[in-house]
Amino acid sequence: MPHKNHSKIIKKRSGTADNMSVTILAIESSCDDTSAAVVRDAFLLSNRIANQDVHRTFGGVVPELASRAHQQNIIPVVDTAMKEAGVKPEEIDAVAFTQGPGLMGSLLVGASFAKGFAISRNIPLIAVNHLQGHVLALFVQRPPDTRYPAPDTQYPAPDTRQPSFPFLCLLVSGGHTQILVVRDYLEMEIIGQTIDDAAGEAFDKCGKVIGLPYPAGPVIDKLAKQGDPLAFTFSRPRISDLNYSFSGLKTSFLYFLRDRLKEDPDFIEKNLNSLCASLQYTIVEILLNKLRQASKLTGIREIGLAGGVSANSALKAAVNEEAIKRRWNVYIPELAYTMDNAAMIAITGYYKFLKGEFAGHDVAPLARM
Ligand code: KG4
Ligand code: ZN
Repeated sequence: MPHKNHSKIIKKRSGTADNMSVTILAIESSCDDTSAAVVRDAFLLSNRIANQDVHRTFGGVVPELASRAHQQNIIPVVDTAMKEAGVKPEEIDAVAFTQGPGLMGSLLVGASFAKGFAISRNIPLIAVNHLQGHVLALFVQRPPDTRYPAPDTQYPAPDTRQPSFPFLCLLVSGGHTQILVVRDYLEMEIIGQTIDDAAGEAFDKCGKVIGLPYPAGPVIDKLAKQGDPLAFTFSRPRISDLNYSFSGLKTSFLYFLRDRLKEDPDFIEKNLNSLCASLQYTIVEILLNKLRQASKLTGIREIGLAGGVSANSALKAAVNEEAIKRRWNVYIPELAYTMDNAAMIAITGYYKFLKGEFAGHDVAPLARM
């Protein structure tokens, strides 16, 4: 049941310019990172992420361990995010949380916390689609006049440009690979998506085969810098529409290694950098091909990237190169907002707040959406 109009919201909306600002606490717990963020309007005041190193030794996320770690992390992470934002619980106007898609045990921790907070403070609850959040990461802004993030942190000077509507978004993460037409903050249509593995999965699964730790994407990115991207070729999907497929590449990579290892048991060690560079080159080519096709088909030249894989240096370089050739305007979120983070849930929560899209207290997390 949707939340009924709230007295606090009515006050905010009918208030003067001074009291129109809205403060939202957001929680993201869809996979293996526990994150909390605070926004005031579209400005990010804090974004805290607790990574779960426990999965590294298992070569992938173990759902049961993820859920347990979320339970341990959530209170300290929220606490730190609120302190860093300089915001007290009574100043929070709404709580946003990731409803799905994701791991059920992980989603439940964030959803339960958000519900408890909303009920105890009698404020509205906002359920956010994780994928919509990844796209809206392109709109996270830092306050012009505040201390967050401190100038000496790892964050570089912000790129304040934002895509204008409509734009195409290539959403590439560990679980999803999609091309979307984004017509407004909350209005987007999937025009192409993977029919099997996601791009991040291709990085991670192939990385596992050559002995890299999970997640292998960032490691491959680093190792590829010293390799030859044209040293080896792997199969590419032959799909005529805007959909992707990465399972063929994974199989081709596996068979290629099996054959080479028969000839030389040290083949991987000797060619690690070029294996990474060639694999990365192939994934980037596959991604870019369909993006190029989508831009031609729609006539849209505003291009956004989103999701963990958009941190990949070869992908960014290839898209920027393409931008010069095809007069694209390219937008890539800051690194901190490409991976799973609560800032993207907070900004989505803000736009949902403005539209009055609230969830009832009976809202349930959804593993698939
Ligand atoms: O968006 P994200 O943090 O989580 C999901 O919603 O899945 O994406 C995680 C994925 C992983 O597959 C990881 O290997 C990949 O993003 N990734 C990268 C890079 N950084 C993260 N892949 C390639 N190059 C990178 N630099
Ligand atoms: Zn994600």
